Amino acid sequence: MSILISPSVLSCDFANIQRDVEMINKSNADWFHIDVMDGVFVPNISFGFPVLSAIAKHATKPLDVHLMIANPDPYILDFKKAGADMLTVHYEACTHLHRTIQAIKDAGMKAGVALNPHTPVDVLQDVIADLDLVLIMSVNPGFGGQKFIKNAIFKVAQVKNLIHRRGSRALVEVDGGINLETGLELIKAGADALVAGSFVFNSENPIQTIADLKALS
Ligand code: DX5
Ligand code: ZN
Repeated sequence: MSILISPSVLSCDFANIQRDVEMINKSNADWFHIDVMDGVFVPNISFGFPVLSAIAKHATKPLDVHLMIANPDPYILDFKKAGADMLTVHYEACTHLHRTIQAIKDAGMKAGVALNPHTPVDVLQDVIADLDLVLIMSVNPGFGGQKFIKNAIFKVAQVKNLIHRRGSRALVEVDGGINLETGLELIKAGADALVAGSFVFNSENPIQTIADLKALS
């Protein structure tokens, strides 16, 4: 399978959001990565439902929504209504993770769990069979443009191993500090999907940068 590319709209120009959504539509990106931050779980606030709905109105590819929010349970149906196709919650933000995963699936979305850089992969062993996606954070969540944490490469190999052992169909996505060099290392370790924000949107030609990432596999 070729690598899936999920450009992070956190780094787009919000005054020209429709233009940037159309750029991703035209590119050979696979998904839209949408970062929702609440100022509680992470030290930053990004955007919420009105922006997600506006993106959904124009996007022609699945919306891969990454929730960096405390206690996501009360909002699961609202995210479905706003257009999310995949909903990823943080392991560190969910006391009753199994219940949260089932609620996401019951709402008709694919379910993902994200792990912060300090969280070991093993904590997922009793839910991995229920997951569609594992999101390995290769930066501490909250901001675009941070430095890649190399231990993420090791964690990708570990989670792939767990997925095979437990007969799970989950895909492994990695988020933070991804460029052509770090992306290649992650693909070699077994990553299925790469998120890229600043590397895409700060480049001269974002469509070409997405094509270059896609061509890594
Ligand atoms: C960080 C977000 C990322 C971010 C990645 O908290 O989850 O999705 O947009 O940005 P880059 O690719 O610039 O590290
Ligand atoms: Zn993200």
